[in-house]
Amino acid sequence: MANVAITGAARGIGLELANQHLALGDRVFALVRDPAAAERLNALAAGSGGLLSVHAMDVRDDASVRAGAASTGDAPIDILYNVAGITGTAEPELEGADWAAFDDALNIMLKGPLRVLQAFLPRLHNGARIINFSSQLAASGWPYGGYYAYGAAKAGMARMMRSVAIDLRERGIVVGIIHPGYVQTDMGGPAADITPEESARAIRKLTAEWPLDRSGDFYKWNGEPHAW
Ligand SMILES: NC(=O)c1ccc[n+]([C@@H]2O[C@H](COP(=O)([O-])OP(=O)(O)OC[C@H]3O[C@@H](n4cnc5c(N)ncnc54)[C@H](OP(=O)(O)O)[C@@H]3O)[C@@H](O)[C@H]2O)c1
Repeated sequence: MANVAITGAARGIGLELANQHLALGDRVFALVRDPAAAERLNALAAGSGGLLSVHAMDVRDDASVRAGAASTGDAPIDILYNVAGITGTAEPELEGADWAAFDDALNIMLKGPLRVLQAFLPRLHNGARIINFSSQLAASGWPYGGYYAYGAAKAGMARMMRSVAIDLRERGIVVGIIHPGYVQTDMGGPAADITPEESARAIRKLTAEWPLDRSGDFYKWNGEPHAW
């Protein structure tokens, strides 16, 4: 049985990861912005016999992240999935940007994963895994414009986590960076390539098999290396 912490667990890929880890008998700490609104997660928790618990955590806010992590107790964490994300503004912001929205995207998707990692770090041990959700939009080969804040946040986070991976290697902690696929969630939309079930199943396998000597690398959900 693994102890698994998941941000952004109320919907989409995070919810499906919670669902699949619970089905395996793992202890799941589901971290969400608004526990009262997380109806599907609360239903899972109710039938989980205490294996899944729901905790408030807004990854934008230091105090919320610290309090959310503390509310999960002091058990070692085997897997931390940094999933929480937003789309932000898709249109090119050439003539002017909504800077508040831009900052929000950076706060959630660039600083958020580091905040969460720091809050759980004392409970991450040799062999633990921190899996960070980047995107194909973060890669230099992505051929489309727009999504300035989203692309910047995900690319910056990926590069930052590569440094974190180097700094944690001596402790035996694996830091992974992934593109989860183009997934049929609220973010990906119904026409996306794969279902949350397929994405989460493949990400679980990738997470379990990620070797320490590939810590800091960037992979697609299906285990193929992703170009930076
Ligand atoms: N879907 C895709 O095709 C795709 C492709 C590449 C990368 N990704 C990345 O994969 C991750 C999961 O995406 P998804 O498709 O599952 O997205 P989603 O269905 O839109 O879910 C996003 C989740 O993030 C949570 N969240 C947003 N802001 C938060 C905050 N400040 N604090 C805590 N949680 C917050 C949301 O919580 P609320 O329910 O409270 O809003 C929601 O649970 C994201 O990082 C995304 O960028 C997705």
